[in-house]
Amino acid sequence: MRKDDGLFDLIRRALGNGLVTSEDPLWRRQRKFMAHAFTPARVEQYADKMVDAALGTLSQWSEGQSVELHEEMAEIALEAVSNALFDLSLRRQAHNVFRSMHAIGDFFVEAFASPIALPHWWPSPRNFRFIRACREMDSVVEGIIEERRKDNHDRGDLLSALLLGVHENGEHMSEKQVRDECMTMLIAGHETTGLTLMYAIDLLARHPEIETRVREEIDQVLGGRRATASDLDSLTLTMQVIKEALRLYPPAWMTARVLIEETEIGGYSLPEGSALMFSPWVTHRDPHVFPNPETFDPDRWSPERAANIPKFAFFPFGAGPRACIGNHFAMTKLGLILATLLQRCRFELVSQAPIRLGVSATLRPAHEVYARVHMRATRRSGMRRPFRSSPHAAVRVPAVRARSGSSRPAPISSIPRGARRSSVAQPPGCPFSGGEASARTASDREQGDPRDDSRRGSKGQ
Ligand code: HEM
Repeated sequence: MRKDDGLFDLIRRALGNGLVTSEDPLWRRQRKFMAHAFTPARVEQYADKMVDAALGTLSQWSEGQSVELHEEMAEIALEAVSNALFDLSLRRQAHNVFRSMHAIGDFFVEAFASPIALPHWWPSPRNFRFIRACREMDSVVEGIIEERRKDNHDRGDLLSALLLGVHENGEHMSEKQVRDECMTMLIAGHETTGLTLMYAIDLLARHPEIETRVREEIDQVLGGRRATASDLDSLTLTMQVIKEALRLYPPAWMTARVLIEETEIGGYSLPEGSALMFSPWVTHRDPHVFPNPETFDPDRWSPERAANIPKFAFFPFGAGPRACIGNHFAMTKLGLILATLLQRCRFELVSQAPIRLGVSATLRPAHEVYARVHMRATRRSGMRRPFRSSPHAAVRVPAVRARSGSSRPAPISSIPRGARRSSVAQPPGCPFSGGEASARTASDREQGDPRDDSRRGSKGQ
């Protein structure tokens, strides 16, 4: 099988020809090269930076504040991946990255939904927004690479490997390939984990009895100290919650392949060139494997019950040779960040209406998701903020710059950060303020939005 041209051509327009979109022989060579950055021993070394990413965002919140969960979790996820793989902080650019990812996501939504495939050069507002977002992302990645080139010594991270490493044939990677791999890691490495964190927090906030058990586990295992990678084995229920969130809301909800030879599947003979689509969203809801599939039940992942789940019935990270290279990285990051957040605070959803989903390359919410943050006193000190970020001197990348004389459009304008974290007024675009991204009205909230059928399994397809 090879990756499907239609879907991956679209993705290639944003990511370039990196590990997600490339094909043999380039893909095989790059995968082997980059696998070193994802070994369990390496991932363990990133743990501190992952915890720091969560603590950095936590330190910006205050008691009772209303935060937009999707963006906040995306920021933590971006910070964790940029610190771990590129040894730098992208916190200052996080908002622009989030908006760019939004524009790129919208482009995919419309491209999937449109009966006519408009040419790339077509002067539509959607195409303009998409191009501007891609340029914004380009300038972030160029900033990362330029900054590192200033001191080109080996820091032992993925970026050093990309810039300084040589392939078996003695060649360095081309500038374009370095850019495409950085872009791929940046986007694939944060978009999916940010979404998973948001869904996990949303699910826990709707199931207080499970949330209480998770919190008790975290308090018991960590006893008020920072989480480390070795704690994850003991944070059993926390990790089960993450698996269950990935089952119900697999961020990479659909992928596609083309058969390179005639194949028989389920008694059907499929000719070479057939396009196949696979959706963990659908498979994860098979009632034969997952009884009461719409129910959030982290205990279905207890060792005894999970033993009955067939290997390929659960595949949020894909399967086979093209399975996610960041699987272990992602599970470590998710476990550490969720434990760190729940150790410090509790999230109260502003709306009880289920999240409505949008069809995009990833499983994104169709609207903003607000939660009020309630800080917890920790067991050990009883203080509200006993933790500090570890003294990792994360290098900050200069804010996105336009090259002089460049015809690049101005960066996508930013909503002031304070606006989306206000505890006084709802931010622009909040579902309850009637802003541009508003998806629900007050009466939806009171009566239950009839479009909210997400628990009935029709969303996202
Ligand atoms: C919850 C988190 C994540 C999920 C659900 C996820 C899901 C997936 C899936 C389903 C694929 C296969 C796509 C296909 O078969 O067409 C994939 C591939 C990939 N993922 Fe992830 N991913 C996650 C996190 C990450 C992270 C943290 C990184 C990097 C830091 C990453 C980097 C990649 C790359 C580079 C590929 C392409 C692998 C290849 O083709 O060799 N992912 N991911």
